[in-house]
Amino acid sequence: MAGVSVSPVTAVAPAKINLHLGVGDARADGFHELVTVYRSLDLWEEVTIGFALEGDDDEVAVSGPGASEVPTDRSNLAARAVDLLRAEAGVDRPVAIHIVKGIPVAGGMAGGSADAAAALVATDRLLGLGLSRADLEERAARLGSDIPFCVRGGTALGTGRGEELATLLHARAEQYVVVATAQGGLSTPTVYAELDRLREARAAEGGDRALPRMGPVEPLVEALAGDDPGAVAALLGNDLQAAALSLRPELRRTLRAGEEAGALHAMVSGSGPTCLFFCSDRDAAIAVAAEISERGVAREVRVARGPVGGARLLEPRPEER
Ligand code: C5P
Repeated sequence: MAGVSVSPVTAVAPAKINLHLGVGDARADGFHELVTVYRSLDLWEEVTIGFALEGDDDEVAVSGPGASEVPTDRSNLAARAVDLLRAEAGVDRPVAIHIVKGIPVAGGMAGGSADAAAALVATDRLLGLGLSRADLEERAARLGSDIPFCVRGGTALGTGRGEELATLLHARAEQYVVVATAQGGLSTPTVYAELDRLREARAAEGGDRALPRMGPVEPLVEALAGDDPGAVAALLGNDLQAAALSLRPELRRTLRAGEEAGALHAMVSGSGPTCLFFCSDRDAAIAVAAEISERGVAREVRVARGPVGGARLLEPRPEER
């Protein structure tokens, strides 16, 4: 990175998926009341931040898959995280931010939120602030609904607009999930707006045409503490899926391909368009991934596992990476 005057700091943060995403009605502030179960997966964003030379402008560079779709202006979530902590510390030194994408861009897996989470952790170290995890999560909530979870990782219940977290117990066994990305992204506000529109339209039709909503989250919370991936899979669901499928009907083919290949459950990730396939073990996940690749119904197919820990510093020693 050009112009860095002291050692830059690198942090990583994981992708999130929603095992349960219950979306309530829009609130006065435009956000929707959520009840969600978040889980982190081992797809990582890596963010390196260093001081630039005095007098230089801030610089944001992005590399990795989909990098060209990520804004490099002040709207970049990592830059906004830096701005927040710099203002708090009363520091105005310019920085160089380098983001390496490992999470699909605009894919419903919190790629931008993970950038912000990693940037908070890296900036905290760069500026020597010494913020606690709780402090970091509080700053994270100011920047976006999913960002506190990207700081925390693991498995957590999210309420409010998704930013109020309670860590959940989960079984020791790892969960394997096939992640199938789609061509092009979906904008989160557009998907929420489509859900509102569908709900209104179906309610106006009357009778029993109302769009189904996720039931209570408690059965899933209980199943997660047990060891039966089939029991967990039967309780997964996402209220945003109907809206994502309405905007991108071709995703139905992707979901069907994974179901036919033997996934325990197929669903859209968050606001989409990434599709997720929950599998009983690693071998099953590899078989499902191969079948989806073969059918050509996804842009890229990966096998991921979770839960993993939240945002953390990457120490410079290579053996620790
Ligand atoms: O909080 P975040 O910036 O990630 O949210 C992006 C957009 O997603 C919001 O502007 C809003 O349109 C929508 N959203 C919502 N309800 C939530 C979370 C997000 O309507 N609970």
